[in-house]
Amino acid sequence: MRPVQRIGVLTSGGDAPGMNAAVRAVVRMAIYQGLDVVGIQRGYCGLLKKEFIPLNLRSVGDIIQRGGTILRTARCDEFKTESVLLKGVLCLQEQGIEGLVVIGGDGSFRGALELARHGVRVVGVPATIDNDLEGTDCSIGFDTALNNVVDAINKIRDTATSHERTFIIEVMGHSSGQIALNAGLAGGAESILIPEIPYNIDEIIFKLDRGISRGKLHSIIVVAEGAGSGLEIGEQIRQRTGHETRVTILGHLQRGGAPTAIDRLLASRMGARAVELIIDGESGKMVGIKARELVTVGFEEVLQQKRELDMNLYELAGILSV
Ligand code: F6P
Repeated sequence: MRPVQRIGVLTSGGDAPGMNAAVRAVVRMAIYQGLDVVGIQRGYCGLLKKEFIPLNLRSVGDIIQRGGTILRTARCDEFKTESVLLKGVLCLQEQGIEGLVVIGGDGSFRGALELARHGVRVVGVPATIDNDLEGTDCSIGFDTALNNVVDAINKIRDTATSHERTFIIEVMGHSSGQIALNAGLAGGAESILIPEIPYNIDEIIFKLDRGISRGKLHSIIVVAEGAGSGLEIGEQIRQRTGHETRVTILGHLQRGGAPTAIDRLLASRMGARAVELIIDGESGKMVGIKARELVTVGFEEVLQQKRELDMNLYELAGILSV
């Protein structure tokens, strides 16, 4: 096995709180192991433009607590084209980068898988607030986003109770209901609408009326962006019931802020393990976490399907929201 001397690290796709903690772990573990580390800015787009920066112990100082990513990030559609990908492989070779750590979500790992198929030693670290990746119980950024949403729900509850209103809160998650389901359960929402289960407006209204008849002062409905438009659902409810409704689209504030301790721990462990895997000659794999233990999963398996929702949580939310 060819020993590695220099590795690269990049962040790609939507930023996730904890990406910086992962970059720090990669850099410091690599230097501890006697390797050189090169940062690649703006994901695969930056790779193609040769946006390389040398990273040392101090370059990653004071970033463990910062959201976003110091390496910047981008979504790079052109990287799906074979000729463009080959250019990326060449750019890595020119820089003498023999191993690559890709920190991102499913789109980033599709690129990483292709790089691995072209002989690049590449290991992935899952970082996406959507938590939709197969092969890991959790991805970096999810816990922080969840806490951001729950914090917002708590605040909205105060005003919702005061005015006895129905609030629709639209959350992110792309085509997955992980954020909505977990935040809805943790935030005590009356209804949770997720893309995995088509919603029924009559059922939502039934629950609303039932709550009011039981003395509830307000209702919170959490809608995953992939399940439908919060504004449209709010309007339907207003027209059908006459209840005063308000809609809050949380948007990108879900992705910002200091990562939680859970995300920092996850990022530190996963980033360090990614470097060890590259040193051990592994490639085409993602670091995951299962039952609190780090595992490695092939990119093919990760990309085969979206991580399934825990339907027990969905049922529980229904039982507890009466
Ligand atoms: O994948 C992370 C995510 O925040 C999704 O939840 C959301 O659908 C998407 O990114 C938003 O992308 P952008 O930041 O490009 O608007």
